Amino acid sequence: MTNTDIPLALPGIWHGGDYNPEQWDEAVWDDDARLMTGANWNVATLPVFGWASLEPEEGVYTWEWLDAVLEKLSARGIAFCLATATASVPAWLDAAYPDVRVTNESGVKVWHGNRHTFCPNSANFRRLSTNLARKIAERYGNHPGVKLWHISNEYGNLCYCDENCAPAFRLWLQERYGTLDELNHRWYTRFWGHTFTDWAQIEPPITIGERSMNALRLDYARFASESLLNCFRAEKAVLREITPDVPVTTNLMGAFFPLNYHEWAAAMDVVSWDNYPGPDAPYAAVAFNHALMRGLKEGLPFLLIEQSPSQQNWQPYNALKPPRQLRLQSFQAVAHGAESVMYFQWRRGRGGIEKNHGAVIEHHGRTDARVFREVSELGAELATLGAATLGGRTPARVAVLYDWETAWALRFASGPSRDFDYTREVRGAYIALHESGIAADVVSPGANLAPYDVIIAPTLTLLSRPNAARIVARVEAGATLLATAYTGLLDDTDLVYENGAPGALTEVLGLWVEESDALPPPKTNGIRFAEDFAGIAADTTFRADLLCDRVRLETARPIGVYTDDFYAGEPVFTVNAHGDGLGYYLASRLEPAGLQAVLRAVCREKGIASPLLDGDAPPPGVEIAERVSPDGTRLMYLLQHGADTADVLLTAGATYTDLLTGESMTSTARLAPRDVRVLRRAA
Ligand code: GLA
Ligand code: ZN
Repeated sequence: MTNTDIPLALPGIWHGGDYNPEQWDEAVWDDDARLMTGANWNVATLPVFGWASLEPEEGVYTWEWLDAVLEKLSARGIAFCLATATASVPAWLDAAYPDVRVTNESGVKVWHGNRHTFCPNSANFRRLSTNLARKIAERYGNHPGVKLWHISNEYGNLCYCDENCAPAFRLWLQERYGTLDELNHRWYTRFWGHTFTDWAQIEPPITIGERSMNALRLDYARFASESLLNCFRAEKAVLREITPDVPVTTNLMGAFFPLNYHEWAAAMDVVSWDNYPGPDAPYAAVAFNHALMRGLKEGLPFLLIEQSPSQQNWQPYNALKPPRQLRLQSFQAVAHGAESVMYFQWRRGRGGIEKNHGAVIEHHGRTDARVFREVSELGAELATLGAATLGGRTPARVAVLYDWETAWALRFASGPSRDFDYTREVRGAYIALHESGIAADVVSPGANLAPYDVIIAPTLTLLSRPNAARIVARVEAGATLLATAYTGLLDDTDLVYENGAPGALTEVLGLWVEESDALPPPKTNGIRFAEDFAGIAADTTFRADLLCDRVRLETARPIGVYTDDFYAGEPVFTVNAHGDGLGYYLASRLEPAGLQAVLRAVCREKGIASPLLDGDAPPPGVEIAERVSPDGTRLMYLLQHGADTADVLLTAGATYTDLLTGESMTSTARLAPRDVRVLRRAA
């Protein structure tokens, strides 16, 4: 968090969501405001896509409709998450300024008719969008209902155009590298004769062109993410000038590949994100996304700013959320740090591509309907929880590192395995911990690691020297590092470290990588523990697959060895004492049970376990998450995602009160399917 961040001051958990009144006749607006109160909404986000309705032609503004809507909402005590309305470019603007239209990855300029279609480096877009943000802020900034600014929407439109982006990219590179010689060296352009002799020769990496220049693609990914971030920053600067006390956000999307959200979060006052799990998404995978979003600001609470109250329209099969599923998912978000439960959207639209997307008020327009009732009940329940949960932080002593630049570098590279998916690997490590009931944060390799006693680096392939040095320093001060196969191969320009992997972590891990094998499925290898290890008995075996590094030990000691292939008997799991800490290397990918056993063992060594009886894992399907409020109140959330009734064994001798039901319990908490308990331990 930067010290210029403006905190969000909420009276309780926010409950509300996207409202698109410009799609409806004025006659509906009174009903909307009244029914929102009935749904126990206290906040509405608007007008996200309202540019064409607010500025129907350049410099001509039609505020009256928004004036009227805001007054109606305000009269009902509903706060606004006020949008700058710049997510959709009006048709007149595209027609008048063709350079605003985005050029896609294939080098094709898109036609009008979608949203998020602007070139982020278009000076015309920058001028017109910041102008609209200014006009809106000038008109409504002093309205007491405005509690949060919502800039644009789900940024993600990467542009590869010749007229704006190419020259901006060249300038960006000049600033980064200074000379072409330096760029040629860092980009390894002697490969395939790619040497540049003039800056003007460098082009955006469109897909119909040559894609062999990994370093160019990596830098373009950085540049493209930053280009969109600059649009956000430009609007934010205007808002800050006019309303210095109103926090600013934009809605993020979890592990969204194109944007480096660690960079973005630093520019945002509060992180907010849109949670749209597929109908079969495992709960722990959703938890990973919450943890990733919470980790963007190193553990500060965030906003769940969108989710569907029922179904989506863009999954292959848009299943309904069965009764109490919405409630369960909403409390899951709160358990992981959300201070709001918000929806897309209020009223299901009658036309366009989202007419099949769920909403609080469905096409029938009635409130005596299941979804409306569930939303309304949830709002009432959240209100009872209120301030008890606000500001609460996850008491995690384990950090799982996630890095957008590694995701990019691995995706752009050719090899080692087409089945490798970086985000899936990091998520897998988080899930192994989470299902064990062990609290973990998901943070950037550049984050402050001081709060963490265990640092997990799943396949952290790209690792800059400064970030490596900070991890090493934390180990020297006593922390445990566990890195997995393919970690530490590349520096921050996609160049392999001299002498190869694990690069700047060679000393802390006490080994070097001789070769890396990639197994074609269904081929597997395995791990056999050569000795008892923190609760794992000697000779225990697990399957290993996908990537198998053959490592040579310097100061490290083997704990587990490969079971198969010509490298059977060679180390696959090692430990190295370094300073006051330990560096573990797991040279392959283990089956989930194996990974879980290893991570639990490594945590156990540090005295880290679940908060349940004997530090045990919760029953399968039961999720556990804790939040500790600024006043020290510790709330334990138990959520039953499984299909059975489960008994969760609580710490012996302690008494807990369920804040949702008022029940008190001592040794056991019983949960029926989709039950939620929010337990406060008696002092
Ligand atoms: C995103 C957008 C919304 C809407 C929903 C539909 O989150 O921000 O405008 O399109 O998806 O799921
Ligand atoms: Zn462009």
